Amino acid sequence: MSHPAAIQFHAPDLEALPQLSGRIALLFDGEKPTSLAARRLNKLTRGALARAMGSEAAQRLKPGEALDLAFPAGLAAEALQLVRLPRRASVADARKAGASVARALTASGVTLITETHPQTAEIAFGLALRAYDFSPHKSKPPAALGPVVIATANPEAVAAAASPMAAVAEGVFFTRDLVNEPANILTTHDFAARLAAMQELGLDVEILEEDQLARLGMNALLGVGMGSESPSKVVVMQWHGGPKDQPPFALVGKGVVFDTGGISIKPAGGMEDMTMDMGGAATVAGVMRSLALRGAKANVVGLVGIVENMPDGRAQRPGDVVRSMKGDTIEVINTDAEGRLVLADVLWYAQDRFKPSGMINLATLTGAIIVALGHENTGVFSNNDALCNAFLKAAEAEGEGAWRMPMGQAYDGKLKSRIADMVNSCGRDGGSITAAQFLRRFVKEETPWCHLDIAGTALLKSDSTLAPKGATGWGVMALNRLIRDRYEAK
Ligand code: BES
Ligand code: MN
Ligand code: ZN
Repeated sequence: MSHPAAIQFHAPDLEALPQLSGRIALLFDGEKPTSLAARRLNKLTRGALARAMGSEAAQRLKPGEALDLAFPAGLAAEALQLVRLPRRASVADARKAGASVARALTASGVTLITETHPQTAEIAFGLALRAYDFSPHKSKPPAALGPVVIATANPEAVAAAASPMAAVAEGVFFTRDLVNEPANILTTHDFAARLAAMQELGLDVEILEEDQLARLGMNALLGVGMGSESPSKVVVMQWHGGPKDQPPFALVGKGVVFDTGGISIKPAGGMEDMTMDMGGAATVAGVMRSLALRGAKANVVGLVGIVENMPDGRAQRPGDVVRSMKGDTIEVINTDAEGRLVLADVLWYAQDRFKPSGMINLATLTGAIIVALGHENTGVFSNNDALCNAFLKAAEAEGEGAWRMPMGQAYDGKLKSRIADMVNSCGRDGGSITAAQFLRRFVKEETPWCHLDIAGTALLKSDSTLAPKGATGWGVMALNRLIRDRYEAK
């Protein structure tokens, strides 16, 4: 629904430069026009290109930034965009350069000349990610973006390198579409149906309905959905790309399609943002989509708990006690601390059924993580240094901010309940950490596990380098890389 213009890779055609319509984007690294295409464009514009490159504005550009020469004399193109990028650019700068081209892209399209730049596939990836747009609910959507042609000296090699990246971009878009969608459209039923549609890609998708969840004993999860007209569901997505005997890696997501807080209702201001409270589940789904599209050689299972947290005559009350699938009882102090109730049962089910080699869960779990880390970093909690460090390394390589938070017995101690085995909420202090300690009670000692609190990173109020404002798809790239580097048969 929101797919940016398809990108084609061609060899540069110097003869065609004067007649090219749309925009022309050209890499430069702070030098004079040295490449073949740049020299030709400089001649056609009678030296305007060289003057622009030497200008103070061009010299002040940081790697990845760009400036426009509008309606350049001597060219049919509507603009000549200079994109500053050194030859030995970092991956992040290369993606940023692509994003700069995407931000200026219009219906008439662009020819981006990268010639022999070694990071051309990364440039294309950044362009695709930033060209994303979500406007299915606009009566007058923006005009579709025109074609993108990347003129590179090695079109076959670049296209081959770009192909798995396009699969990852598709996963990111899937996550963003789900997170951006409002809750009257993305009901629990609609969400599950969109996941089931991924069977076409070779994923095994099962939808567990309320009666099955009750038989499994998932009362912590079911309690959250009792006030909603939309039935609670657990969706299991399996990708079998690895050896038969390889135990799967598990991804688990919080999928609260809307979080009013329930009977512990939230204040009205900003409540509309709680349409993104299924961001963890959407990220799991986006990763599964990427793995399927690129044919990943690993066994991975994605499990998501899909519920809606509403106040109602049938809703769960503060003070209620529920028995989780694990068997531990939980006193529900605050019905707004619902994500951990959902995850408790899905985490347990994931381990019980799949005996995974490791497990990562994602959740828009606490406002407190935004107080601690702002919107720049996801909070990472773990019981296993090796898995945690591998994840942090993957996130760093993808430019997705992630910061490890502490855990410990002293925090766990705060979960004591007078009448049950634990409470679901114990005050503001260290709120993200006590939430993580709660989850940890449902993780077996022997399961390497990370919890990613994405409350601050799943949705942004302003544009970022690789996404327009709104859903970011944070984590799809890092998790895809972690699976590629750590679990795929080489
Ligand atoms: N979904 C919210 C957390 C959240 C807050 C996500 C802001 C995104 C942006 C979660 O279910 C919640 O309500 N958490 C409470 C926990 C508290 C009641 C212990 C919170 O953070 O206030
Ligand atoms: Mn809540
Ligand atoms: Zn929530």
